Parts: sequence; C-alpha cells; structure tokens
Amino acid sequence: MTTTAPEATEAKTAVVSFDQVSKAYGDVRAVDGLTLDLHPGETVALLGPNGAGKSSALDLLLGLRTADSGTVRLFGRTPQAAIAAGRVGAMLQTGGLMEEVTVEELVRLVCALHPKPYPVTEVLSRAGIASIAGRMVNKLSGGQEQRVRFALATAGANDLIVLDEPTTGMDVTARKAFWATMRDQADQGRTVLFATHYLEEADAIADRVLVLHKGRILADGTAAEIKARAGARRISFELEGPADEEALRALPFLSTLDISGHRVRIQSHNADATVHAVYGLGLYPRELEVAGLGLEQAFVAITEAEEARTAC
Ligand SMILES: Nc1ncnc2c1ncn2[C@@H]1O[C@H](COP(=O)(O)OP(=O)(O)O)[C@@H](O)[C@H]1O
Ligand SMILES: [Mg+2]
Repeated sequence: MTTTAPEATEAKTAVVSFDQVSKAYGDVRAVDGLTLDLHPGETVALLGPNGAGKSSALDLLLGLRTADSGTVRLFGRTPQAAIAAGRVGAMLQTGGLMEEVTVEELVRLVCALHPKPYPVTEVLSRAGIASIAGRMVNKLSGGQEQRVRFALATAGANDLIVLDEPTTGMDVTARKAFWATMRDQADQGRTVLFATHYLEEADAIADRVLVLHKGRILADGTAAEIKARAGARRISFELEGPADEEALRALPFLSTLDISGHRVRIQSHNADATVHAVYGLGLYPRELEVAGLGLEQAFVAITEAEEARTAC
C-alpha cells in the first residue's frame, strides 16, 4: 500500500511558506524576495532592527497586504482561507481595538467567532485581564491594550500564532506571564512566529531565529548559531598577488568571505585559527586587522557581504 494517511500529508505541509515574496513601497523594498518554510511545532523569532520589514512580512502572511510578487501559503492554502478556517491567531503591532465595548464583551465576541474557542474566563485570566474585564476598551493603558490583544490572539486553539513585537509596553511581570503562555502553546505542538528587535527575547524563547534586514533573511539558525555569527570577528588583509578564492573559502571557521582586488575580508568565529591557516596557505597577509563585531555591526557586515555577492 502506498496511500498516505491524511495526517501524514498534513505533517509534511509547511505551516508557513513564503516563495520569492516581495513588497515595495515606492523605492523601499520592505520585503525582498523572501523564501522561507516554517514547520509544525517550531517557535520562530523574526529578529531585526526597526524598518527591517518584520511587520510587512507578517502582514503579508496574514493576508492584510498583498505581495507585489511571489506566493504566501499557510497550511498549503491562501492566508485568507487558512484564517477563515480558524487556524491562525494573531497579535498585531498596530490596528485599533473595537472601542465602545468592555474587555469581556470584546473577548466574548472573538471567542464566539472562533471555531475552537477556549472558555472566556480562561482566556481572560491567562492574559491577566480578569480584573479589568468590566472596563471599557477605550479607557485602557498601552500595556493593558497589549494584554487584550494577547487575549484575542489566544481566544481559541490555533495551529499557528503570529505575534508582532508582542511585549512592547508590557511590564516585566506581564512579559514573563506572556512568554510562559506562549511556551505552553508551543509545547502543545502549536507553531509560534513572533517579531522582535530584542536579541535576548529571541534567545530565550525561540528555537529558530531568522535575522531580517532590509526585507531579506541574513541568517537562519538557532539562537546559539546566530549569536556565534553576531559575535564573529572580522579579519581584513591585503595580498600581494591575486587571491586564490577556492583556497580562502576552505579556511577553517569562515562564515563570510569577500574579495575585492587584493583586499580580503573574512568573518570568522575563531579568528586565531583562521589567521593561522592563512599563514598555513603560504600567504603573507599585509595590513592585517582583526576586529570584533557587535550585533549591529554583524547586521551591516553580513548585509555588505550579501550586497557584494548579489552585485557580481
Ligand atoms: N504603508 C507603508 N508605506 C510606506 N512605507 C512603508 C509602509 N509600511 C512600511 N513601510 C516601510 O517599509 C520598511 C519596513 O517596514 P516594517 O515592515 O514596518 O519594518 P519593521 O516592522 O521591521 O520595523 C520601512 O522602511 C518602512 O518605512
Ligand atoms: Mg514592525
């Protein structure tokens, strides 16, 4: 028998799939050729500075904006179809909440609309808003509004939870409660995708980190792998003759290599060993410089290498 059980087919379908997705606003390429698969049960951080394109990518994923080119699929379907089927819970960075209602009325409404709702009291207490259930939504503080958004995103059992900078405006206690709930959701096999510009948050929560910059993914790996890359050192030197690219590319601990004329720029996560191996090749590097990289510099260095690579 070669027939596949429906659940086996489902398990193989990516939860989220971006294929060559681009979105521009005038000259700004907010999302630039994004190709990406997220798998069931992953907790994924979309990490990048302000303006990196995180919200744009999530809005495309949720079908709130339309891509200029490329396709976005959720569970193998269009975002609209997946959302209509109640498979996705989302917490957005902006966007108004319905105002002329109480917190409880709003949560009750969203639970009523969800195909697999949790009990209203459970949703309220999990989000830490049981004590403000009777308050009008338009009288809430910023942090309380965030908790209400969180409640709405977890009003029912969703296979995918999408969160755009969810802890903005939350105090430390609310943050802890929030991430404990998200971990609990992930433990139940849900896929969680959240945008953040805090490396620490990505590090503590995510089992996969996507570094986004100018609408492109610069790195995709575990937090440890990203940190090693962010903590990489930059090695730069001049060679007398032409650079042997193949030999240089084989250097140990190399993460990026950029050759322009006689100038060689390398990112390495073990600078001592890499430099030692440069001498081992029988080369005589001049004007040798080794410098550490901060996260911000790593973003820039990786982007420069990427731009140099795509330019040729
Ligand atoms: N509606 C819009 N009109 C024009 N430019 C936009 C719009 N939305 C986003 N942008 C631009 O697209 C880029 C990515 O923005 P955004 O996706 O909000 O990034 P992030 O969420 O990572 O901060 C930025 O340069 C931003 O100014
Ligand atoms: Mg944003």
